[in-house]
Amino acid sequence: METVMAETREQWGSRLGFTLAVAGSAVGLGNLWKFPYITGMNGGGAFVLVYLVCILLVGAPLLICEIALGRATASCAVRAFSRFTRDRRTAISTLCGYLLILTGLLLAVFRMFGYGFLLAGAGFCLIRYSWKTVGVLTGVLVPALILSYYGVIGGWTLLYIWKSFTGQLDFTTQTQAAETLTPILAAPKSMWPAILGTQWLFMAAAGIVVFAGVKKGIERASKYLMPLLFLLLLVLAVRGISLEGAGKGLDFFLKPDFSKLSAESVLVALGHSFFTLSLAMGIAVTYGSYLSKKEDIVRGAFLVIGLDTLMAVVAGIAVFSTVFACGFDPASGPGLIFNVLPAAFNRIPGGLGWLWNGLFFLMVFIAALTSGISLLEPVVGFLREECRLPRRAAAVISSVAIALLGTLSALSVLSWDNFPRVQKTVAAVFGDAHGSFFDLLDSFCSNWMLPLGGFAIAIFVGWVWGAARALREIRRGASPRIDSQLFLLLAGCDQMAEFQREKRDSLFTPALLWAFCIRWISPALVILAFLYGIGLFR
Ligand code: PHE
Repeated sequence: METVMAETREQWGSRLGFTLAVAGSAVGLGNLWKFPYITGMNGGGAFVLVYLVCILLVGAPLLICEIALGRATASCAVRAFSRFTRDRRTAISTLCGYLLILTGLLLAVFRMFGYGFLLAGAGFCLIRYSWKTVGVLTGVLVPALILSYYGVIGGWTLLYIWKSFTGQLDFTTQTQAAETLTPILAAPKSMWPAILGTQWLFMAAAGIVVFAGVKKGIERASKYLMPLLFLLLLVLAVRGISLEGAGKGLDFFLKPDFSKLSAESVLVALGHSFFTLSLAMGIAVTYGSYLSKKEDIVRGAFLVIGLDTLMAVVAGIAVFSTVFACGFDPASGPGLIFNVLPAAFNRIPGGLGWLWNGLFFLMVFIAALTSGISLLEPVVGFLREECRLPRRAAAVISSVAIALLGTLSALSVLSWDNFPRVQKTVAAVFGDAHGSFFDLLDSFCSNWMLPLGGFAIAIFVGWVWGAARALREIRRGASPRIDSQLFLLLAGCDQMAEFQREKRDSLFTPALLWAFCIRWISPALVILAFLYGIGLFR
């Protein structure tokens, strides 16, 4: 049965298609609105160096892990996790389960009932269902929840494309900009058709691509959209650099300033390296499961990392040259994209503000769409394999269900005003319900589920599946250089006959470094980032 499934399993049509699809997932709002800002605030070029180290120690090893896990099992994340243990309990999962229950109880003591309850629940499932729990959480639940509110932001980008090209985005100050954004966030009844219409349109776009399949849908879309995204980014970067006063922006973004680099910067870099590669959402596992055994996983992972970093840097150049040249202060998050930048584009001499805005929001939309697609596919993969639904039905059902859940987020970005009853229920179950539904989901996923999921994946691959067996999978299709002595490799001498003997004896190879990272370094650093994320060091 399994061989039949493996044979009929869809596959990527080309290496490029796979790389662009994973890169499409990686390049998203994090590259456009977060990376430039945190880089500027934490010492520019100095921070980029720290970020690259984090990517090497945490991002790359985990990305390789996830792709290898997917390819080895040729199945969705849920099966990937249950296959190697055959659903039996393992000492590590049981131990982690008890630890989670204990943490949950502790949180309840500190009156964090909601999270305490959830953690204890996850702990119970971990003891009862072993690693399958990790598969269900990271490979189905988390991507579905994240997509539900990611789609809301995707909808805003569509709304802003429309507004740009119809001349409704003609403000030049942040105060005026807020007059456009605030009603969208506050969502009074009069705005519902626009907000929900665009959110559903975004979900439909993602749904249609996934509906069309791996090769004809995701791969084809990525092959068109990613080059277009890069082109738009370049146009905007060139436009930004050629403005008078752009230098100040570039100074802020890239000039190394080691005095701004703190221990906290390292934790910020750590968290971001994790988020920007879309780790712990079942995405790389799912995309890896469509990858041929002939392909080089290590090379693919580093290509993706290179593309992701390149796009983040070009985005930073495009954003901050424009923002500073037009006399604004840097900002992060939705405020930067939806308030500051449109006002800045409108101040560019020449009166083409509508065009720059239109192109810019088209770019943000594409970045969000390819990420949205990658969030939907793991859910569809799960429905196909575990519920035996055909792809098309799975795509329709999951898009509609996620869009419905997203509706709650769309109408409650600023407050619970639109849903007093839901707020009451949430408050009753969790003990508190401040902020909004949107905030609640975002902080639950970004601060809790992602790092914990990443930790679980590293532990699973390093200790349960086993680094040795994982390496066997990674070696398939990989260059023999991953077994070369690292120093010889860096010196470019690994092929020289004189060094062949050392090479064989060496313990210091990229492959072993990976195995060491995945067992010790990555889980430790992920937990550190998690503790920072939930506010323990602040
Ligand atoms: N990796 C994306 C980014 O850097 C974020 C993302 C989150 C993508 C969730 C997919 C899913 O913006």
